[in-house]
Amino acid sequence: MNRPLASFIALLSFCTLMPCTQAENVFRPGEIWPDNHGVHINAHGGGVLHHDGVYYWFGEHKTEGRGGNQANVGVHVYRSTDLYNWKDEGIALKVVDEPGHDIERGCVLERPKVIYNEKTKKFVMWFHLELKGQGYAAARTAVAVADHVTGPYTYLRSLRPHAGVWPTNAVEGRGPQNGYLRRDFAGGQMSRDMTLFVDDDGKAYHITASEENRTLHISLLTDDYLDFTDQYVRVFPGGANEAPAICKHNDKYYMITSGLTGWAPNAARSAVADSVMGPWKPLGNPAVGVNPANGLGPEKTFGAQSTFILPVAGKDGAFIAMFDQWRPRNAIDGRYVWLPVEFVDGRIVVRYRERWDLSVFDEPAAATQPAD
Ligand code: GAL
Repeated sequence: MNRPLASFIALLSFCTLMPCTQAENVFRPGEIWPDNHGVHINAHGGGVLHHDGVYYWFGEHKTEGRGGNQANVGVHVYRSTDLYNWKDEGIALKVVDEPGHDIERGCVLERPKVIYNEKTKKFVMWFHLELKGQGYAAARTAVAVADHVTGPYTYLRSLRPHAGVWPTNAVEGRGPQNGYLRRDFAGGQMSRDMTLFVDDDGKAYHITASEENRTLHISLLTDDYLDFTDQYVRVFPGGANEAPAICKHNDKYYMITSGLTGWAPNAARSAVADSVMGPWKPLGNPAVGVNPANGLGPEKTFGAQSTFILPVAGKDGAFIAMFDQWRPRNAIDGRYVWLPVEFVDGRIVVRYRERWDLSVFDEPAAATQPAD
């Protein structure tokens, strides 16, 4: 083989293995985040699964303009081994063109989260589903499953959970203040912003904004993660929380949520519990500092909204809080605000940083700095 041809082939094989854009080694919250093709990552309202040493980032594939908030494509997946550089793995779950199908193109498909079931060896995706043409009235959660992490995912069904079942902590919940719970008792409870959490014992939980977004519901999923058990609790009745994200650190469960202002940012909240099913104790606003790009601080969560708390593999106590900075008028331009989590005096704290890298988790000071 002649020399130029050999070096061309070497470059080609390098490019298929490595991103051909310049490798990144820092997080830049709020900026364009190019994938291996140099295209801004398209995985909004996302979640990250760590599997066999690789991170997989699943999220809403948005398109241009206001209509780009609807699901015109599906759930996008990217892979990474270092969390800075992401390779496009395509569409894990595709919308369909069959009229009347649950995930018909033009439906609303938000906040997809994927978990791996050790027993069945299946990858299970749950997401918030609004049926096409019905605005946000359907308020359903939906499930899809795959044999391979990047898909293709097979759509199974959508539902309103817990039809005919009272929550385990609802004794006082049957009172007059809980009209939505009673209204939806027969048909199933509403489910909008949601997340999933798998505990160390392999039990998986579905956490969602229910009851017209007034009250969170936390439900135990079945052992195969494909359905709901009858066990669920109401959390912060009337507290108006959404965008839930959960992590576990030193046997405590921490949750970050937002208030209810649609795409517009508001102040985040946080809570702690000894068990996923609660009781949960409010801890106040976890945000500290100001985003110099927009002048927004804790009162508006730096201009962003919580979506997931990502455990950094192999680093005990290291978590990244993932937020979305929505751009509803041009949905595809939405930005990602990833920030390191600190645990300070029993609280979960998320401090704004313009640039940072994973070495912050090696600094003992990060864990002990007082919250401002
Ligand atoms: C937000 C929610 C987003 C999306 C949006 C629609 O409150 O967190 O996921 O549903 O409303 O307005």
